[in-house]
Order: sequence, then structure tokens, then C-alpha cells
Amino acid sequence: MSKTYKIAVLGGDGTGPEVAVEGVKVLNAAADTYGFKLDYTDFDFGGERYIRTGEVLPDSASGELSQFDSIFLGAIGHPDVKPGILEKGILLRLRFELDQYINLRPVKLYPGVDTPIKDKGPAEIDYVVVRENSGGIYTGTGGISQKGTPNEVAVQSMVYSRFQVERCLRYAFDYAKKHGKKARGKSDENTLGLVGKTNVLTYVFDLWERAFNEIGEQDYTDIRRDYYHVDATCMWMVKNPEWFDVLVTGNMFGDIITDLGAMTQGGMGIAAGGNINPEGVSMFEPIGGSAPKYTGQNVINPLAAICAGAMMLDTLGETEAANAIETVVADVTGTKMKSMAAGRMGYSTTEVGDLVAAGVAG
Ligand code: IPM
Ligand code: MN
Repeated sequence: MSKTYKIAVLGGDGTGPEVAVEGVKVLNAAADTYGFKLDYTDFDFGGERYIRTGEVLPDSASGELSQFDSIFLGAIGHPDVKPGILEKGILLRLRFELDQYINLRPVKLYPGVDTPIKDKGPAEIDYVVVRENSGGIYTGTGGISQKGTPNEVAVQSMVYSRFQVERCLRYAFDYAKKHGKKARGKSDENTLGLVGKTNVLTYVFDLWERAFNEIGEQDYTDIRRDYYHVDATCMWMVKNPEWFDVLVTGNMFGDIITDLGAMTQGGMGIAAGGNINPEGVSMFEPIGGSAPKYTGQNVINPLAAICAGAMMLDTLGETEAANAIETVVADVTGTKMKSMAAGRMGYSTTEVGDLVAAGVAG
């Protein structure tokens, strides 16, 4: 009997549902071809539901979602809802409650995709950012006192426990061992680079750096260790992206550098990510937003969602199917699509989904 995976689909806001549909189309083609089944359940969390009911996310949501094998997310963010409410109330709440402590974000330039970086191609722009996803300034305590007066004070602290840092670093070392450039035959060593700010944030990144070196020396002597300050990382991501293999960093820095990374790989239309709980239920998403101005026009690029689907299959253990999707995406970007930008792809959203699904079906 073939294996069945239970998938929760959260289309979300704006163009989220449209790209999620194309992701599901490709996932179904992969399931048919590679002999497993996907059983989907839709959830309507997002701006429309919030406006209609006044509830951002039912308290039962994470409990319910934790019964699934995986979660597939379109996008969260609605133009008629004040920024922060849905992002924190849905996306971040689910990440935290489901303890998806890794945010895995490949920065990979597919063939035929334009990068704004001169003289760099798919061979140079091909690395992965492991973003810590459960702590740091995202969950550190804070508040505002004497709000609205000239004396007001705002605090939002970057807080990391050794436990949080260590589990993230171990995931990153393991990832580098399995998927680093040596593992992929592209270098004679696997390298993990820590991205921090040890010259200023001398408490938090001292903890990260000590843990990084201790764990590396004890358990991963075969992995080369590099260290980069986050500002310099931005510089090298533009100037010498080929230096990077696997990077690991805290939540806030990871958020920032992966938007830069996404631009170097051709934009938000192609950048995928996974919120991963290695011991629990993970959630895969295109890392761009809901792009509300393109809603309903069938022009948004679904490839980020499709690639997020591939990451989901890989995490579920369907590696062959995941690799097949990746290969077809590379063929579609390399030989068919004109651009990664909404409205300029040379195809509609549904046509891009059809192309990839047909390729996967063989
Ligand atoms: C991301 C997004 C989120 C984040 C927002 C929407 C809360 O920017 O997934 O990178 O900051 O993590
Ligand atoms: Mn972000």
C-alpha cells in the first residue's frame, strides 16, 4: 500500500491561495509519478477570515495542525489589516507554537533566471541560510512605557538561550554534512558559516560563537567553520556569493539577509523556505508576501510555492519526487519562462503550474 501524507493547506491572503493551488497541482503530479498519496485539508486562516469573524487564529489551530504530516502555506498579509496583526497572530504564532525552530532558506539561482549581480550565475549563487526561527528579538520581552509622551521608552530585547542556539547549530551542522558543497560534489569540503555581530552584540553572539566552536570541535570536525559579521555578509552575498555553502544565524539577521538572498536569486517569485521542526510538524512557504495588488489576475509567479512544495516532500522523505520537481523547475526557468516577475513570465500563473506538473508527470 502506498504511503499517504496528511497535508494542511493554508492558502492565506492575496495571491497566497493562487500560488498554493499551483503548488498542490505539482505535488499531485509528483505523488502520482512517485507512488504516494497526499490528503489535503484546507484552512481559511488569514485576513478575510479575521475581518469577517474578528478572530485572528483560533486557539485550537496549532493543536489541530500538529495532527498533520506537514503544512503548506501560501502567504499571510492583508492590505486592510494593520501590519503586524496577521503576521504575528498567524505566521509567527504558528512557528512558535509548533516549535518550528529552523527556517531553512535556500539561495539558489536557477538556470535562465536573471540576477542583478553582474558576472554571477547558478554556479556561484547556490547556498543555504539556516535561520533560527524560535527566538531572538522576535520573542524577546519588551514594551513601551510613557507612550506618546516625550519621555517614552521602547525596549525589545534579543534573547537567546543556550538550548535554542545549540539545537539550531546542530541542525545546521547536520545539514552541512548531508547537503553541503562536498556532499553535492561541488567542493572538497562542507562549510558552515556563522553569521553574527560579535564586535557589538558581545553577549548574544558570544554565546552563539562559543557554542558554534564547541559543537564543531566536538562533533563535526569534518566541517569547516567560518565566521562572518552580518553587515559583511551582506557585502559578500553581493560580491562573492560563491564563498558560501551553509550559513547559520539568528532570527532577525536571518530574516534580513534572506530577502537580500532572494533578490540575488531572481526575486521573491522564486524564493522558497521551510519552517522546520525536525521532531514535529513543519510548514513550507514561498518567502515573499501576499502581493495583494496581483490578486486574482493569474500573473503571480508560483515557482516559490512549487519549490516550497519540493522542500516539503524532501522533508517528508520523498527525496526522489522532490529532486524531480527541482529538475523540472530548472528546465522551465532555463528553457521557457521569460522572467520571474509577476506579469512578465511569458505565461500565466496556472500555465507555469501546468508546465511544471506536466514535466514531473514525465
Ligand atoms: C518572513 C517574514 C516574516 C518574518 C514576517 C511576515 C513576520 O518577513 O517570513 O521572512 O519576519 O519572519
Ligand atoms: Mn522576511
